Order: sequence, then C-alpha cells, then structure tokens
Amino acid sequence: MSSQASPKGVVTVKNLRKYKATGKKFTSLTAYDAAFAAVLDEAGIDVVLVGDSLGMVVQGLDTTIPVSMDDIIYHSQTVARGLQRAMLMVDMPFMSYATEEQALHNASRLMKEGGAQIVKLEWGALQLGMVRRFTECGIPVCAHLGLTPQTYFKMGGYKVQGRDDLTASRMLDDALALEEAGADVLLLECVPRELAKKITESVSTPVIGIGAGPDVDGQVLVLYDILDIAPGKRTRFSKNYMRNNGAIQDAIKQYDQEVRDGTFPSDEHSFE
Ligand code: KIV
Repeated sequence: MSSQASPKGVVTVKNLRKYKATGKKFTSLTAYDAAFAAVLDEAGIDVVLVGDSLGMVVQGLDTTIPVSMDDIIYHSQTVARGLQRAMLMVDMPFMSYATEEQALHNASRLMKEGGAQIVKLEWGALQLGMVRRFTECGIPVCAHLGLTPQTYFKMGGYKVQGRDDLTASRMLDDALALEEAGADVLLLECVPRELAKKITESVSTPVIGIGAGPDVDGQVLVLYDILDIAPGKRTRFSKNYMRNNGAIQDAIKQYDQEVRDGTFPSDEHSFE
C-alpha cells in the first residue's frame, strides 16, 4: 500500500453547490481510519471529515488543541484509502494557519500528503485574507464559524454562539465576507436555529451545520457520537443511531437517510 494518499472522490464542492441550488440536503460525518471511511463511503455519505476531534475521540485528549499536522496527515492518509466517492475534508489543526505563509504551506501538505480535497479552518478575522489566498491558489476551503473548539480557552468553554443580536449580526457579516472571499463551504457549529437559517438563506455557499438546526444545507456529526462510543458527556445536538440498529452500517445509513429526508435534526437536537 502506498503511503501517498490518492484522492478518488467524485463528490466535489461543485456538487454541494448544486445540492444547495436544488434544495437537496447533503450528509457528512467524521472518520479517522480506512475501515470506517469505507463504511461511510458505501453508505453514501457525501463529505467525510478528518476532524481534529480525533484528538478527543481517538487520542483521549481533553481538547483539540494538541493535535499536530503529522497526526492529521496520518489519519487523513488512512481515511483517503477507504474512500471511492465521498469528498475528503481535512481540518487544519490549531496554530497551523497563524500566518498566511504557514497556512498555504500546511494546506498544501494536507492536499499533497494527506489527500485532502478541501481543507477546513476555524474562523477568525485573520482568516479572511487566507481564504482569499486559498481561492487564488485553487485550494478548496471550508470556514468553520460559531463554536470553534480551537479557541476553547478564549471562549471559556463549549457554548452556543450567536445568541445575542450583536454576535448574531457579526456572524452573518462574517459569512457574507467569507462567501465574497471565495469560501467553498461554511460550517456552523452550535448556532441558534434561526440564525443558521438566516445565514444559509443569505449565501449561495453551501452551509453544513452541527448543532445548527435543520434549516442548513447539510449536516455533519462526529462519528463516535452517533455510534455512542465517544468518551465523556453526550452532546445534545447528536443522536445515538445504534439505539435501533444492530450493525454500524445500518446506523450510518439511517443517519444519511434522516438528514436527506429532514427527520434529523429535530427540535430536541437544535438550539433556540
Ligand atoms: O473536528 C471535528 O470533528 C469538527 C466537527 C465537529 C465539525 O470540526
């Protein structure tokens, strides 16, 4: 087996735009190895994310902050080998994009060594220029807004973001600026349902939500949460798909189906 990942995905950012334009929901889950990646791909999941959540669910850390470029590249290579159809999105770890030069260097490593077809970075004002540069260089990019786990210590915990008028209108402005800068996908984490809806309706960029209610274009969850094997407290916005399924494959298929038909997420998984 080659150590060089070879991207084979047939889902691209263009497909996601088409889904949005035609009102079709798309699905995403995290994966950290080839076996699970193949199960997700086979179930029809559109976007497989090698998230830095691997620090918590695979490495047993308390936050995503210690995850390194080498960790992400290793897991990305293994996931890439399991995929045939799904688009491979890969997280840029904490402090791997502190400057534009460093961001370009590391995004290019994720694509060349890790097989990433789109990279994801957590949003901050500094990242607008980066998204523009990525776009100029032909690097597909997803900007992660709302709850950004890499700023855990600045945020003072994992909390719903955008609940007051000021932060809500800033998030909408950020989304519009990111669209203008060329972001290919926006990801909203732990955002009130109405705000997520407003952002989704205001941009033509596809919006993926996690804890952002049902009115976004696609949904993403942490795989180990839906399989009910994540260590620690259960997140309110996730759902245990093993409850009514005897096989992991069936659980993934049920998640995929429920996102597409709008059954998931329901009110109990959304924030007001
Ligand atoms: O790291 C991750 O798994 C993520 C998801 C929570 C969206 O960024």
